[in-house]
Amino acid sequence: MPPLSVLVVGGGGREHALCIGLANSPSVGAVHCSPGNAGTSMVATNHDISTSDIEGLISLALDIEADLVVVGPEAPLVDGLADSLRDSGVACFGPHSEGARLEASKLHAKEVMRHLDVPTGDFIVVDDESAISYALDKFEAPWVIKRDVLAAGKGVTVTSDRKTAEKALLEGIELDNFVLLEEHLSGEEASVLVVMDESGYICLPASQDHKRVGEGDTGPNTGGMGAYAPAPVVSESVMHRVTREIVEPMHHHLRNQEIPYRGCLYVGLMIDQEGSPGVIEFNVRFGDPETQVTIPLISSDLGLLLLASAEGRVAEEECEFHELSAATVVLASEGYPANPSTSREISGSEVMIDEGTTSAFVHYAGTNLGENGALMSSGGRVLSTTGLATSLSDAVAASYELMECIELDGSHYRSDIAYRAL
Ligand code: AMP
Ligand code: GLY
Repeated sequence: MPPLSVLVVGGGGREHALCIGLANSPSVGAVHCSPGNAGTSMVATNHDISTSDIEGLISLALDIEADLVVVGPEAPLVDGLADSLRDSGVACFGPHSEGARLEASKLHAKEVMRHLDVPTGDFIVVDDESAISYALDKFEAPWVIKRDVLAAGKGVTVTSDRKTAEKALLEGIELDNFVLLEEHLSGEEASVLVVMDESGYICLPASQDHKRVGEGDTGPNTGGMGAYAPAPVVSESVMHRVTREIVEPMHHHLRNQEIPYRGCLYVGLMIDQEGSPGVIEFNVRFGDPETQVTIPLISSDLGLLLLASAEGRVAEEECEFHELSAATVVLASEGYPANPSTSREISGSEVMIDEGTTSAFVHYAGTNLGENGALMSSGGRVLSTTGLATSLSDAVAASYELMECIELDGSHYRSDIAYRAL
């Protein structure tokens, strides 16, 4: 097979991790990224086309004669990028717009789960102010209120305060005409990224993300402040149940759609005290920062794996993993998540650790190269330091050792990543 030309769509830490994994794949000859960031420019050719410019991305894929397009974020999938690429004869890792509704509409995802009897919390749709009080009486605190829109993890309110819950429900009705009230699931959260198509599926090592901004999982939700994998909470027996009760029925459902699902199904889980899994959410793409700790654990050729899924041949692929643990710590801008400051210079991020089986390196996210080639912050999540080692504690230590070398005015990171597992 001639070397593959691959285009990665997106510009975060997830896309940097994908570009590194693809650049290290023997099957891949050229990696392109659009729009990319300062990190992707080190391993790929960046292009200045935004993830919302579907026409521009199609032209780019055709211009560079891409054999494969790997879509990082959900929005272009919801907007039909995969549909248009396939119409143009370009293989795409990422589902068509109908498949992407699993993430775009939480109500749709709940209806699919209810239909398939996939374990998840009970829910009701609240579409009238006069029904708020009745709805809150129906569920016990804490209440979980979700808007049925793409909101990057920020459209969810979890609260034990009835007034706050009433306000969130009212606001949701005013904004979108209806809102979901869900049963609260308790336990430990984890994510399983499943590479799938109509032929089969491969579950990647389970990971755990830290969604709250503050230490001990406090403060507002963010896109994710750090992650680690494999997550010990997903033991072999839990994974067995996740596969049997969630992945199998979802795969059966998705493979039998008019256009089969090809790409990653992100299964967001709550594992209770007894080890019973329940679905919190589905995403239709790799997670960020889960990808930063998952891709480095894959020892097989990533290009071949993603191409197989894009072409409906994943059942033919063998995927192998390093016997290592990975941990990533996110460095966020001052004011993130509410009001991140940008355009500040970053220093010290050019170092890496490489000591036998222990290593650590940087995944760049909201960064660009300013005048004089200086590395500048350009987003809320700026970069993450990812450690790899034979034990999770060594991976975490390597990640923090690298983080301490990096300077960015006003920035912050959590110092307790992986604390539940350690
Ligand atoms: P989502 O955007 O659906 O992932 O929700 C964001 C975060 O809210 C999740 O990562 C959980 O921490 C929390 N959450 C969402 N739904 C529930 C639920 N039913 N029970 C408990 N926590 C939840
Ligand atoms: N880290 C959570 C997500 O990617 O949705």
